Amino acid sequence: MRKKFLFLSGSTRKDSFNTTLARYCAEVAKTHDVDVEFVDLADYPMPIFNQDLESESGAPETAKALKEKFVSANGFLIASPEYNSTITPVLKNTIDWLSRKYDDSEPRLVCFSDKAAAIVSTASGVLGGLRGLDPLRLLLSHIGVNVVGKQLAVGFAQEAFDEKGKLVSQDQAEAINTIIKTLIRIG
Ligand SMILES: Cc1cc2nc3c(=O)[nH]c(=O)nc-3n(C[C@H](O)[C@H](O)[C@H](O)COP(=O)(O)O)c2cc1C
Repeated sequence: MRKKFLFLSGSTRKDSFNTTLARYCAEVAKTHDVDVEFVDLADYPMPIFNQDLESESGAPETAKALKEKFVSANGFLIASPEYNSTITPVLKNTIDWLSRKYDDSEPRLVCFSDKAAAIVSTASGVLGGLRGLDPLRLLLSHIGVNVVGKQLAVGFAQEAFDEKGKLVSQDQAEAINTIIKTLIRIG
């Protein structure tokens, strides 16, 4: 069966550089004979996770819908900025909702356990959001995701992409292709 991968941005900002990067990665993945879907987290708004809310109302429909996509995918790629050197609230909140069991028959961490993931980032500074990748890698590893060892942080985001959203640097483009090939192989 053809493998399927989701591409997400850790930013829902309208002109997000990380969304540009996630969409670029999705286009690269399409050249590798796999099914590819870009998931915009703005289309899946969820309340801030609260266990009382979960007990009273269950998971929001958006979380259920997104969970189905994760379950049917072999893996995913996240391009995310760092906020104060760690992962963004929208990404953490989404992962928290998706990490929960929605019924007793569901296997634990069904969205994440043994799925493959790649992580990349971009930001306007020289580090390109690099520090946020460490906590993201740790979090994903602890919920059973096999995270590709190679990662990329793209600095100086304003100059990193051309008008079509492609990476200008050939070295960075090759690094992304290598990361995606590994993601597809292990997914
Ligand atoms: C609350 C907040 C915290 C931030 N902290 C960092 C940071 O620690 N390191 C950094 O490089 N940029 C930081 N930034 C700047 C973001 O990297 C920048 O806004 C980036 O463009 C956001 O990604 P996006 O373009 O994908 O939305 C922060 C921005 C916000 C709103």
